[in-house]
Amino acid sequence: MFFRPFIVAAAALVFSTSACPEHKYTSGPRLQGRQTITDPGANSTQNDWAYEASYNWHRVSSEYYRCQNGTQQSPIALSLGNGLALNHVPKFNYNGSIAGDFYNWGYGPAFTVKHDGNWTSHPSFTYDDMTVYLKGWHVHAPADHSVGGDRSKAELHLVHVDASGHEAAVMAIRLDPGNFDSAFITQLPAMIGFNDMGTIHPINIDFTAALESVQHFNEFWTYQGSLTSPPCHEGIRWFVARQIMFTGVEQMQQILGASTYSARAEQEVWQHRINE
Ligand SMILES: *[C@@H]1O[C@H](CO)[C@@H](O)[C@H](O)[C@H]1NC(C)=O
Ligand SMILES: *[C@@H]1O[C@H](CO)[C@@H](O)[C@H](O)[C@H]1NC(C)=O
Ligand SMILES: *[C@@H]1O[C@H](CO)[C@@H](O)[C@H](O)[C@H]1NC(C)=O
Ligand SMILES: *[C@@H]1O[C@H](CO)[C@@H](O)[C@H](O)[C@H]1NC(C)=O
Ligand SMILES: [Zn+2]
Repeated sequence: MFFRPFIVAAAALVFSTSACPEHKYTSGPRLQGRQTITDPGANSTQNDWAYEASYNWHRVSSEYYRCQNGTQQSPIALSLGNGLALNHVPKFNYNGSIAGDFYNWGYGPAFTVKHDGNWTSHPSFTYDDMTVYLKGWHVHAPADHSVGGDRSKAELHLVHVDASGHEAAVMAIRLDPGNFDSAFITQLPAMIGFNDMGTIHPINIDFTAALESVQHFNEFWTYQGSLTSPPCHEGIRWFVARQIMFTGVEQMQQILGASTYSARAEQEVWQHRINE
């Protein structure tokens, strides 16, 4: 059984805008381009696959064969038994406040960095001899990666592309409720629900708070993986922070309230070369 979350919305071709002092909430105009494109690989206005049946994705389409016989599929279970990464240490160049669109990718809160055709002007990080550029982020609920058998409430994916725009690396930050509000979440506008096609633009986000909450990835796991949605393309380097970004209880309730189930079943570790 496959649900098709975008069919109904695609029929609602109502264009309405309402201006507010700082940014504009737009309902409708995004529809044409409204695709789950901020998830690595998810690019469809009408998904023929469902997270609830991720073990069967290759039966949906022959194009999804890697979901079944790929050797570096994501996500995987991680633990301190893997040790922590000593190589591929990321160096961030995320300075300042970054303009973009805030919306819901159909499964949870999301943000796309404003793009002027030149990826190399985006915030970036460097590891080894690679520089990758931030395309945007989105939230999965619950978390895709478990650590030591524990699954966080949500997981933030910061998707990065190479200079020609191909998805190359994802920074994953696990989110759990704690005792204090997260400064990163506090700066966001009110959450947009998973069934709401609206966009708030432009907004500016300072990523410093996100990086600080996980101590700039001072401790992390890295491995060779894939997109966590069809067509499950491989060749993505994953960085999973050991630290957790804690949010206030209400903040987490708002994030979860705007989200719907979006975790792929964990894959067996095979040729992932964890921390190598
Ligand atoms: C989404 O997929 C379509 C069809 O494969 C492709 O033409 C389009 O460029 C893709 N969009 C993005 C943003 O990747
Ligand atoms: C993986 O499965 C697909 C579809 O069955 C097949 O075409 C492809 O050859 C397989 N890959 C390998 C390496 O066998
Ligand atoms: C960004 O900020 C870091 C410290 O927060 C600094 O080391 C680095 O030089 C800055 N980069 C740019 C391009 O301003
Ligand atoms: C892209 O942006 C970078 C950094 O801002 C700049 O150095 C480069 O010249 C730009 N490339 C093009 C083709 O505009
Ligand atoms: Zn993702």
